[in-house]
Amino acid sequence: MASGFDPSEYGRHIAEVYDELHADLSPEAALSVIAGYAAGGAVLELGIGTGRIALPLAAKGLDVEGIEGSPEMVAQLRRKPGGEALRVEVGDFSTTTMDRRYAVVVLAYNTINALPSQDAQVQTFRNAAAHLDPSGVFLVENWVPDVAGFHHGRAVRAHEVAERHVIVEVAELRPAEQRISATRLAFTADGVRLLPVDHRYVWPAELDLMARLAGLHLEERWQDWERRPFTDQSTTYVAVYRRDD
Ligand SMILES: C[S@@+](CC[C@H](N)C(=O)[O-])C[C@H]1O[C@@H](n2cnc3c(N)ncnc32)[C@H](O)[C@@H]1O
Repeated sequence: MASGFDPSEYGRHIAEVYDELHADLSPEAALSVIAGYAAGGAVLELGIGTGRIALPLAAKGLDVEGIEGSPEMVAQLRRKPGGEALRVEVGDFSTTTMDRRYAVVVLAYNTINALPSQDAQVQTFRNAAAHLDPSGVFLVENWVPDVAGFHHGRAVRAHEVAERHVIVEVAELRPAEQRISATRLAFTADGVRLLPVDHRYVWPAELDLMARLAGLHLEERWQDWERRPFTDQSTTYVAVYRRDD
């Protein structure tokens, strides 16, 4: 793992405004896919954050637990209805272990890129696989890298455009390591906030190979949680990895 990696860094800057910035993101389709695969079994969310997905899943009666690197994100989760009752371990999800197994392990909303290196990403697949029931699945939601949007290694792009906020991303590309270092400028009614984001971006087929290294195989890949087909035009995907044995 790259030295100096701090899994609490992202949350320290964004926790206070994370829910406001993601208010337009409906979790409904994700809940339906996750609950379907769980089929009454338990769910572990890696990078559970403020509970955007986990809390409504728990409210549906599912047994949900999480691993989260940022105490500030967990504090936001705890403030919400049902948040005190959820078991959340604070730590790096590539190495933190729980004392049980789950029907579903989920890594949502592009969080695989938050890891600092390919090794750490492979380690996350291994850790997810180690927490799966024999018939369990690992669900990964991610974006397809868009390196064509960079000019001379830099890009300025509208990351999110919503009615009550916009986020502009100023990014630098380091293709040899597949890294993007960016600062997101979040403009809200309260002013501007700087959100540093460091990504080690991954290709869909690279994730499939990581899965194979962890004893998993690709079962499905859709464009999104609505299960639309994944095509050459897709900019996002949800992959379903199942244990080989
Ligand atoms: C983009 S947010 C997604 C949060 C939540 N899953 C959702 O869908 O809203 C990524 C979350 O993963 C956490 N995170 C990033 N890297 C981590 C790591 N290595 N270990 C544990 N948590 C990590 C961040 O603190 C943050 O809460």
